Amino acid sequence: MTELILSLDVLDRKQAVSIAEACAPFIDAIKVGYPLVLATGLTIASDLADLALPLIADFKVADIPNTNRLICEAVFSAGFDAVIAHGFVGADAARTCVEVAHKHSGAAYIVTEMSHPGATEFFHGGVAERLAELAVSSRADGIIAPATRPERITRLREIVGSKAIYSPGVGAQGGDIDTVARLVDGVIVGRSIYEAEDPGAEAERFSRIRR
Ligand code: C5P
Repeated sequence: MTELILSLDVLDRKQAVSIAEACAPFIDAIKVGYPLVLATGLTIASDLADLALPLIADFKVADIPNTNRLICEAVFSAGFDAVIAHGFVGADAARTCVEVAHKHSGAAYIVTEMSHPGATEFFHGGVAERLAELAVSSRADGIIAPATRPERITRLREIVGSKAIYSPGVGAQGGDIDTVARLVDGVIVGRSIYEAEDPGAEAERFSRIRR
């Protein structure tokens, strides 16, 4: 089953909770990033806890090992179940995120390649492949790979094997959900759901990939 993950990039606590509630029956996890956390604080994790869905902190953590450790400790102490980190800062820094995640019985995912057009500027030419290798050697639980470039997902799958691949970029960024759903463990969808007139109905429509 391919999972459907809601990217909850709204800026208001009440709106976030009400969208999450409407979508909950049709999704497998909720991804929260800087837009929502900067507006509400990490306590948004407690507000979403009643839904009993895994909460992924998309903070693309990218600092020295000690700072990564402090960030990840705060993330897991707030009630998140997983964190997304960058790998380009090096294996020691990425490994710290993985270690803190596992200490809390959580998960850590490494970004291998972003989904927007400008990502090709630095992530191509073998860099994404090296980041996928780093995810494997750091014992990360999976990688983030772009739904906007399915051929890149296929290439990165060769490196990470059965590790989870979660993929943002369908809908608003142009990626095709049916193509991508066959290649990954989870599809991350933001605007196409939370900007819809009826987010719950839209989540239900996207949830056909879970069958
Ligand atoms: O609204 P949309 O469906 O494009 O949202 C995609 C989400 O995934 C955003 O939160 C974005 O920051 C995130 N993301 C991404 N590409 C990556 C990693 C994360 O689009 N490589």
